[in-house]
Amino acid sequence: MDESGVNTVRIFDTTLRDGEQSPGASLTSAEKIDIARQLARLGVDIIEAGFPAASPDDLEGVRRVANEVGTPDGPVICGLARATPGDIDKAWEAVRDAAKPRIHTFLATSDIHMQHKLRMTREQVVARTREMVAYARHYCDDVEFSPEDAGRSDPAFLVEVLAAAIEAGATTLNIPDTVGYLAPAEYFMLMETLIRETPGGDGVIWSVHCHDDLGLATANTLAGLQAGARQAEVTINGIGERAGNTSLEEVAMALHTRPTFYHLTTNIDTTQITRTSRMVSNYTGMPVQPNKAIVGANAFSHEAGIHQDGILKHQATYEIMTPETVGLSQSNLVLGKHSGRHAFRVRLEELGYEMEDADLNLAFQRFKELADKKKTVTDADIEALIADEFYGPDEVFTMEGIQVACGQMGMPTATIKLSGPDGTTRIEAAVGAGPIDATYQAIDRIVGVPNTLVEFRVAAITEGIDALGEVTVRIRRDENGRRTFGGHGADTDIIVASAKAYLAAINKMLAFTGFEDRQPEGDSSTIRVSVGAAR
Ligand code: KIV
Ligand code: ZN
Repeated sequence: MDESGVNTVRIFDTTLRDGEQSPGASLTSAEKIDIARQLARLGVDIIEAGFPAASPDDLEGVRRVANEVGTPDGPVICGLARATPGDIDKAWEAVRDAAKPRIHTFLATSDIHMQHKLRMTREQVVARTREMVAYARHYCDDVEFSPEDAGRSDPAFLVEVLAAAIEAGATTLNIPDTVGYLAPAEYFMLMETLIRETPGGDGVIWSVHCHDDLGLATANTLAGLQAGARQAEVTINGIGERAGNTSLEEVAMALHTRPTFYHLTTNIDTTQITRTSRMVSNYTGMPVQPNKAIVGANAFSHEAGIHQDGILKHQATYEIMTPETVGLSQSNLVLGKHSGRHAFRVRLEELGYEMEDADLNLAFQRFKELADKKKTVTDADIEALIADEFYGPDEVFTMEGIQVACGQMGMPTATIKLSGPDGTTRIEAAVGAGPIDATYQAIDRIVGVPNTLVEFRVAAITEGIDALGEVTVRIRRDENGRRTFGGHGADTDIIVASAKAYLAAINKMLAFTGFEDRQPEGDSSTIRVSVGAAR
């Protein structure tokens, strides 16, 4: 607490762990690194980088975040583990190289979970908690314990389990409302009771972790903080299991906007919020709903005449926070076709991108191409351009060219040129029900991995007829389970953006599922043009 009585809440971001558990939100380890770097820039205190025991890929992803982002002045890097020696070994292996590593272990404590999932008695759960927290502590000084489904657990039993965890060396106790069941007043009372009643509770950090099944995650999180918790577990855009987790931006901005009510602060640089939100949305392929608090496209737009009139007279009439506070630039006239390389570099640096000369040259070239097509280039345009060019999964297939003919008079036809994993370049043409269908069919012929398009969305990044179009798609590899893969593309030409998004999703799918058994149509070593029927 500082002299004015203000306490700091630690922000524990679990976008890369609970968030990645959202259906279709798979992230490659390169994407995880980019997001982790951005989370560090945003000022989060702890990054939960993944669940290392889930797969070798997950372990490698967490290890890379620990090595590349877990610097001495960077965030704590945390790995999740079930309360078993095997999981804890893997979590430690993944985070040990971070300057500030943390192991987060959990065990369910609700009767329903203990009886039906764990098949353990209360005594066994207390004993396992004690044993596994001590096991984690023999590796690491920073150990967090979570009684899973605490929201539906008996508070008296929770006190017993949490006291055992403290005795065994836990330094943070996290109280998850795993199924988003509690009301804010109940969660407040639960947190207050546990903090007051648990022996040793005054020597640990109490943490809140809420899910949004009833739309109460942020309200519950704020209630838990009012009850004395000093760590909030959150995700960007509120992504996560089922209805998601508490969203970081809502908690950070509630505390920022209402300091005299909460008397709580965070280390978050709020001006990085919009950018982080866009990055997570682009990489996960999960669009943000337009009316989403803080980061939705409509969060700062005023439609009603009375509101517009009020805003023009005094901004505070209808705005409790300014768009600039969350990093949403008001000025649309950021850069134009006459802007030079220096101005472009300065703007990139202001947006947080530091680039080597070669990357900067490439980005500047892309910017000039865009500025030739578009009168003004906004921050959102620059971010889309950078995301498109430099981020995303490693490319197995790269688009070398696209040509589409469509309209009422003829058959929509797309011709695509891709370079592939075997070092060859192929051209395919296809006829489809529309230009996007034709494009996707032509790509499919070259890639040769059957998949189903489960979602396709188009949006404009900025206003105006020359706006960049942004396409998000989600695909599922046929005969490969329920997992879906998202892709994102941006371009002034909506068909090109659609092709980029589809190819990004395909590259991500191949990064996760491999491409050895792919069966492209025809001979992959030659350039081939064939026209197929509409599907
Ligand atoms: O919701 C939950 O219970 C969790 C735990 C693993 C902390 O995510
Ligand atoms: Zn959770």
